[in-house]
Amino acid sequence: MYGMVNEGIRTFVERNFGVEAWNSICGDADIETTRFDRLGSYDDAVTYCLIDAIVKYTELPPENVLKVFGEYWVGYAGQSGFENLLKISGKNFVERVQNLDDMHERILLTMPNLKPPSFELEKVGENTYDLSYYSTRPGLGSMVIGLLHGLAEQTGEEITVKQTQHRSVQSDPDIFRIVLKS
Ligand code: HEM
Repeated sequence: MYGMVNEGIRTFVERNFGVEAWNSICGDADIETTRFDRLGSYDDAVTYCLIDAIVKYTELPPENVLKVFGEYWVGYAGQSGFENLLKISGKNFVERVQNLDDMHERILLTMPNLKPPSFELEKVGENTYDLSYYSTRPGLGSMVIGLLHGLAEQTGEEITVKQTQHRSVQSDPDIFRIVLKS
């Protein structure tokens, strides 16, 4: 993953638990550095090892760590030179979710090695949607829940999200039921 993700994790840990905690987490994850080049490409294993080490440090369930980081990421990415990208991707939550693939496509201009996720939003009832999430990477479903909450915060909307399907070896996607509260 791009170093920007690992830098996001660093600022997330430093803000919540302090610099000492970050240094200890990097040591535990057996990572040689404590800083990352935001536009550099790193092995996905670095990111997964960092998450594992945070889980160990905080003694929180991995799903919670991923969810809280996902929520943090939207604000972090927004302050990292990409704020307009989110704004122009839609005027409300639903439009922005519908345009997530286009938004990540645009990031490819700055980050050509990006392996972006892909999403499909289907309306299944009044204020109710099913979102399918496709990725080359396993285990990030809980992060999507946090990301969606972070996205809704940006437009001042309130949502509930529940994962209704977990991706399987047959490459079925993760599916989330989203309800917009009005
Ligand atoms: C301005 C906001 C955003 C920026 C700049 C951004 C950028 C990125 C970057 C750089 C990566 C790493 C991918 C790689 O290195 O191959 C990534 C991954 C990802 N992004 Fe975004 N993103 C943004 C918002 C969102 C939002 C709102 C969602 C909502 C669901 C989202 C979903 C994901 C997921 C799930 C991944 C993990 C990669 C995977 O599934 O394979 N992103 N994004």
